[in-house]
This record gives sequence, C-alpha cells and structure tokens, in this order.
Amino acid sequence: MRLTVIGTGYLGATHAAAMAELGHEVLGVDVDPAKVEALSSGRVPFFEPGLPELLSKHVESGRLRFTTDYDEAAAFANVHFVGVGTPQVKGSYAADVRYVDAAITELSRRVVGKHVVFGKSTVPVGTATRLQQLGSKIVAERGLEDTSIEVAWNPEFLREGFAVKDTLEPDRVVLGLQKPGAIVDGAGREVEASAEAILRECFAPILERNTPIIVTDTATAELVKVSANAFLATKISFINAVSEICESTGADVTTLADAIGMDARIGRRFLNAGLGFGGGCLPKDIRAFMARAGELGADQALTFLREVDAINMRRREKAVDLVKESFGGSLLGHTVTVLGAAFKPDSDDVRDSPALSIAGSLSLAGAAVVVHDPQAMETAKRVFPTLDYAPTIEDALRNTEMVVVATEWKQFREIDPVWAKDLVKRAAVLDGRNCLPSQEWSDAGWDVTCLGRG
Ligand code: UGA
Repeated sequence: MRLTVIGTGYLGATHAAAMAELGHEVLGVDVDPAKVEALSSGRVPFFEPGLPELLSKHVESGRLRFTTDYDEAAAFANVHFVGVGTPQVKGSYAADVRYVDAAITELSRRVVGKHVVFGKSTVPVGTATRLQQLGSKIVAERGLEDTSIEVAWNPEFLREGFAVKDTLEPDRVVLGLQKPGAIVDGAGREVEASAEAILRECFAPILERNTPIIVTDTATAELVKVSANAFLATKISFINAVSEICESTGADVTTLADAIGMDARIGRRFLNAGLGFGGGCLPKDIRAFMARAGELGADQALTFLREVDAINMRRREKAVDLVKESFGGSLLGHTVTVLGAAFKPDSDDVRDSPALSIAGSLSLAGAAVVVHDPQAMETAKRVFPTLDYAPTIEDALRNTEMVVVATEWKQFREIDPVWAKDLVKRAAVLDGRNCLPSQEWSDAGWDVTCLGRG
C-alpha cells in the first residue's frame, strides 16, 4: 500500500519506518524542514533504540521518503496516518489540538478522490467527530464530487525506548469508526466507510499473528488511549502513596510491591515506587483528561486524577528535602551529582522529567549540581543550560558530596560502589528509583537513602 504519516516525532517517525518494514510505500510529512532533512538522510533526531537501523534500511530501499510538502502528500496516497503532537496548552490543563486540526485542514484542501485519515495522536474525546466535520466542510467548499475525507481513530500505545517493538508487535489494535452518515463527499452525498478494510490490509502482517483488534466508535477509541495512560499513572501514584506510608512506618515498598504484584489481578508491572512518572505523555494526558471531563460537565468523575498528579509531584519534593536534610538543611556551598536527566532509561526525552526537575530544584536551592545522562545531555542542556553537565559517570562523581540516582539507566545500576567511593568526597547516595543493590552500596561504606524502603 501507499500511505503517508503526518508528523514525524517519536510516534510518527517510528510508525513511518514500521509501515515500510511491513512492506508499504511510505511518505513521512512534517512542517519542520530540519527534521525532514535529518530523516531523509537516515538520521533519527532523537534517541530510540532500533529506530536508526530501521529508518536507514527503508530510506535506502526507497520505500520510505520524507517531505514538508502537503501537495505531495495528498497526491502520493489515499491513506494517511496523523501522529502530530498534542502538547499541554500553556497556562491550562487542556490538550493543544491545533496540529491535528492543521493536518486535516491541509489535507482536505488538497485531496482528490476518496481519502482515509487515521488519527494516532492522543486527543480529547470528541476530536475525531469534530475533525470529520471540519474535513467534510472544507471538501464541500471545494465542491468536488467523489472527493471525501474519512476520519477514523487508531490510537497508539507505544512506549519510548520500545517504540519499534511496540509498533510492530502491539498488544492490541484499536480502531474507532465514524457513525453511519457522517462521511460525505464534496457534493454532500453520503460515502461508505472504508477505514476498517484499509486498516486490516495495512496491518495484515500484525493481525495475521492473532493480535486482537477492537473495532468501535471514535469516542471509545479516543477514550481507550487516555484511559490506559490514566490507569498507568494511577498505578504508579498508588504505589508512591503507599511508599509514603512505608516511609512513616519503616516498611519496604519494594517487597510490598513484589507481594501484591503476585496477585494476577494486580500485576507487578508499573508498581515501581520512586520519583514517579514524567515524559511527554502521562502527565499531560491525565491533565487533558481532567480538562475534557470538566468541559463535558463530568469533572467529578476524574477529580481523583488531581490526587494522582499531586502524589507524583510530591515525590520530587521529597527527594529534594531528603538531599537537604542530608546536609543539615542547607544546600549552599555543597555539590550534588544527579545521575539521569531523561524521564526514563533508553530515552533522551526530558519532557517533564523528574530527574531534571530535581536537578533544577537542587540548583535553585543553592547546590552546585552536576548532571550526567548517557543520552539526554543535549536535550537537558536546552531546557536547563545553567547546570553543570559531566561527560562521564566518573567526572560526575569526582569530589561530589551526594549522589542522586534519578533515572534507572543500566549504566547507573551497574556502578561499582567500591570504585565510586574512591571518587567522591562524601559517600552518600539517594536511590530515587530503588534500582541499586543497596546492600552492596552499604557494604562499600555508602550512606544509602531509598524512597519508601524503611
Ligand atoms: C506511556 C505509555 O506507557 C504508553 O503506552 C503510551 O503509548 C505513551 O505513554 C504515549 O501516550 O505515547 P512512555 O511515556 O514512553 O509511555 O513511558 P512509560 O514507560 O509509560 O513511563 C512513564 C513514566 O513512568 C516514566 O517517567 C517512568 O520512569 C515512570 N514509571 C514507570 C514509574 O515511576 N514507575 C513504574 O513502575 C513505571
């Protein structure tokens, strides 16, 4: 099949390369010429394991190209996936949908014939219905018979760090279809929906492996995505709330999580207590979900997400307080090393990163902060240029008075505590992700503080 992927960030670039891997002819579309130039030369402008190989393989095979030109996109294919960003609106909790609106508008102004658009971005419930109306209106203004836009929703569940695997081997495929009668051509005539047949053909190699597919209405599909992220955020904040109780009682949250996680109804995944969740999705998605519930007059339904958010933010404050306490209350004149800047390992993404937030807070409270991250140094420098960035773990540890492990990179989990102790001025560590073998660190003479572990 020939198809376009509009928006080439984490989601879109991965989807485009994965579609080429499935055998399709793919044109990636982005308004950012620098991104298009990088991707066209086989370079991924962010860190995502496995993606550079997949991208260059298909750029070289000629199955994958990139452009900034919507004319080319509309002429290239009748099937389009939209994976543009929906960031949080400044000064509000709501999601900014201007980029999805722009994608539909640009396409609708140009398409000829029957086109199907699959939205993949995380959007407020009701967006697909609105975009269908927007697309149909623009097509109608052009008055072209037999020209139409069908907007379906196919949410994406990929995790950064596992984006390629999650796209090629998803747990499930969800497809939301418009209500009967919603799709009309430029002459106002009803058009039969074709999104399901097209998606089944497009994802055939995935569906042949018995991957479940759930075909539903667009509102359900939109809500599936945001509910999944809200549930994951709730699970993390639940264990972090219990972690606060563990701190007051001397109990161990990790053992507790292991024990409750053995109940198949609960499950151990996403029960790692620590500095909490960050990134470009979970924090903004729970906020946008609350904002949308408010617009729908159902805000009470989601007020618990405010608590989920609050518990999450409290973990960051707790970490900063523990570092302060370790220095007797004041950070002035002290050096602290923060290991980690990315919001999670195997990513260079620092959006709403707990690690970078803590580094920033410690610096603002007067500490000299040294940061090291295996991949996120450049992205972190753009957000927080005033911190001191050390090129290696060794440089970051030398003469420091406290180490905070804020992202559980393998490189940090495997630090030899005996080797590290010789480098530092004061052997104190705060394990913000409960990821270190704490006994080994204690045995090596470190003063070890964990979150929620007695
Ligand atoms: C999340 C979802 O997991 C994906 O399914 C979804 O597709 C994606 O958002 C999205 O909406 O695009 P991602 O943001 O890549 O994926 O990151 P996660 O792996 O979910 O981790 C989120 C945060 O939670 C990280 O900061 C991580 O450190 C933290 N976390 C995770 C914990 O604090 N504890 C845990 O047990 C698990």
